[in-house]
Amino acid sequence: PLITSTQMFKNAHKGGYAIGAFNVNNMEIIQGIVEAAKEEKSPLILQVSAGARKYASPIYLKKLVEAAVEDSGLDIVLHLDHGESFEICKACIDDGFTSVMIDGSKYPFEENIALTKKVVDYAHSKGVVVEAELGKLAGIEDDVDVSAKDATFTDPDEAVEFVKRTGVDSLAIAIGTSHGAYKFKGDPRLDFERLEKITNLLPNTPLVLHGASTVLPEFVKMCNEYGGSIPGAQGVPEDMLLRASKLGVCKINIDTDLRLAMTAAVRKFLIENPSEFDPRKYLSPARSAIKNMVQHKIKNVLGSSNTL
Ligand code: G3H
Ligand code: 13P
Ligand code: ZN
Ligand code: NA
Repeated sequence: PLITSTQMFKNAHKGGYAIGAFNVNNMEIIQGIVEAAKEEKSPLILQVSAGARKYASPIYLKKLVEAAVEDSGLDIVLHLDHGESFEICKACIDDGFTSVMIDGSKYPFEENIALTKKVVDYAHSKGVVVEAELGKLAGIEDDVDVSAKDATFTDPDEAVEFVKRTGVDSLAIAIGTSHGAYKFKGDPRLDFERLEKITNLLPNTPLVLHGASTVLPEFVKMCNEYGGSIPGAQGVPEDMLLRASKLGVCKINIDTDLRLAMTAAVRKFLIENPSEFDPRKYLSPARSAIKNMVQHKIKNVLGSSNTL
């Protein structure tokens, strides 16, 4: 069935690994991810953004994920990614999501707490878990000083107070990752000192890393070789994600890597087969590319293989 992330985060915390949370918006993406998780015997979170919900319409995504559960026999967490209001969180909870994120990170501390608490109260009354966010996602520029980091990154003491006052189940933190395919201007770096501090202060709170795609060079290259133009794309190196998942990080969010894998495969197929126009022909290699990429992540980056 659809399940909450409570037990899988406990296991991940203890085992020093992380669960992949993959953004989905169509059938082939869902199928590729689920096939990979099944083969790896890995726990799985599928997440839906407001944009994805609008693109596919809520009922389609819900039914596709239900189909994936039924077809695969896997238990899956269905999570709302970056819910920005109480209303969208409530709508997803009422629709049967087992987990929601309320992203109040753009609000001042007290407003973020009040909004998060409101969602937690409603969600918990329905048996649904909640992720919140404290701090603003931004890459570390080469010469960003300490005060600039303190202004955007998650403050460890505030994190403790935030979790205590909201009762939230997991917390997304800002330590230098960012969304999209262009994460770092210079060399990639994350604030591991901060992550260690937060991990030590909140030993029972699963931490979440957003903007955690590695931006696989293989797919960037393939996109660029087959007519695309995404120069200078750079993600979070695999060894950093491994290091983070040995600390308090239990959930690693991945969207960009799915987009790149799918687009690279479609571009390649269409260029190499100019006379094909059956969508099934180009979406099959796209689905396989997603499956292989996700399987690689589960095995080598998340460390969640064989933990079911
Ligand atoms: O955090 C952002 C996710 O990658 C979802 O992106 O809002 O374009 O669906 P989206
Ligand atoms: P990426 O853009 O690094 O894939 O991050 C996705 C994400 O954080 C979704 O919430
Ligand atoms: Zn995110
Ligand atoms: Na972990």
